[in-house]
Amino acid sequence: MAQESIRIGIVGTGLMGLEHIRSLQLSPEAQIVAIADPVPLSQRWARDELGARAAKLAVYPDIRSMLAGSALDAVIIASPNHTHYEVLMAALETDLHILCEKPLCSRVEDAARIVAKAKGHRGVFWVGMEYRFMPPAAAFIEAVQSGRVGRLIMLSMREHRFPFLAKVGDWNRFSRNTGGTMVEKCCHFFDLMRHIVRAEAVRVYCSGAMDVNHLDERYGGEMPDILDNSYTIVDFANGARAMLDLSMFAEGSERQEEIAAIGDSAKLEVFIPPGELVFSPRVPLGAAKAIERQLIVVDAEAMAAGSHFGATYFQHRAFLAAISGTGPVQITAEDGYRAMAIGAGAERSAREHRVVEMHEIMGVE
Ligand SMILES: NC(=O)c1ccc[n+]([C@@H]2O[C@H](COP(=O)([O-])OP(=O)(O)OC[C@H]3O[C@@H](n4cnc5c(N)ncnc54)[C@H](O)[C@@H]3O)[C@@H](O)[C@H]2O)c1
Repeated sequence: MAQESIRIGIVGTGLMGLEHIRSLQLSPEAQIVAIADPVPLSQRWARDELGARAAKLAVYPDIRSMLAGSALDAVIIASPNHTHYEVLMAALETDLHILCEKPLCSRVEDAARIVAKAKGHRGVFWVGMEYRFMPPAAAFIEAVQSGRVGRLIMLSMREHRFPFLAKVGDWNRFSRNTGGTMVEKCCHFFDLMRHIVRAEAVRVYCSGAMDVNHLDERYGGEMPDILDNSYTIVDFANGARAMLDLSMFAEGSERQEEIAAIGDSAKLEVFIPPGELVFSPRVPLGAAKAIERQLIVVDAEAMAAGSHFGATYFQHRAFLAAISGTGPVQITAEDGYRAMAIGAGAERSAREHRVVEMHEIMGVE
């Protein structure tokens, strides 16, 4: 039986909007019927990406004109972080299904307002947290949640990667636009932490600075103010502790992401790339180790459609399943809010050189 088509409008067709466009073409029920972007060059990128399919594409400068002009079932928001709040306020006035790229927005107080408004929303509301959907990360999460390491006590994540890429209008060079690196980039990891640990963060300590990248860049005479390296420790309410080691001047390193979960019976690691899981159960001191290795093979087309190890495609499948009622909403507005709140706590911690309690960021719950 043919699947019913889902008419989608994309808001923001820069780097990530184009990845959505490419990946959506692997989902036959997804029809990209409109885009909204104020920059003509970005609009052209979208047309080029769609090729012959762009013939019927409606192009708008902003979300409000798109909502007024095109019949849609869903919107995917991939505009800069500081525009998410306004864009979401418009989208939430409709019943459309919404996938909003991480971070939910750039300011925690706006995120709380979005959560409140999303409560009355009839469509699916989904925050794009790709890292959950990288197949090796998904396999890792499932294994830890099913008890493979026993009672989870320590969770560590490392991202050693290339500097922030150039963006349309250079919006990502300033914390006032992004929310800060710990929100912009690291909300992915804080979301993973919450998801894997299955508890809420209580306090966060972050030591970080901009020590290498962007020092000689100026925009309108202003120097960027975004962290390029940090160590962050997060305490969770169930006693688990997590840490994140971020370097954005390590583009020569072999593995971009590494995650390790240590429980009371074993340790499980994942290395991305290559997508390898390494399971190391505890053994008596001196006994032979019993290490198991598993390479997670990712669909080549999904992999080629983006730069997130196939995650965009797999997240689309889950989002489209939620729309058609065949799957759950996996990442709610509340999840988006809590992940970025840990990031905002980390930003404050790095700035003020002190431990930040989460109630300082989110109020008493
Ligand atoms: N999930 C991920 O791993 C991932 C990766 C990269 C970016 N992102 C997120 O995607 C979003 C976009 O990032 P990007 O890298 O594509 O940036 P980008 O600068 O490459 O693209 C942003 C696009 O939005 C357009 N735009 C600006 N204001 C707009 C508005 N009010 N309405 C509609 N369009 C507008 C710009 O013209 C540009 O074309 C950000 O929120 C970013 O954090 C997520």
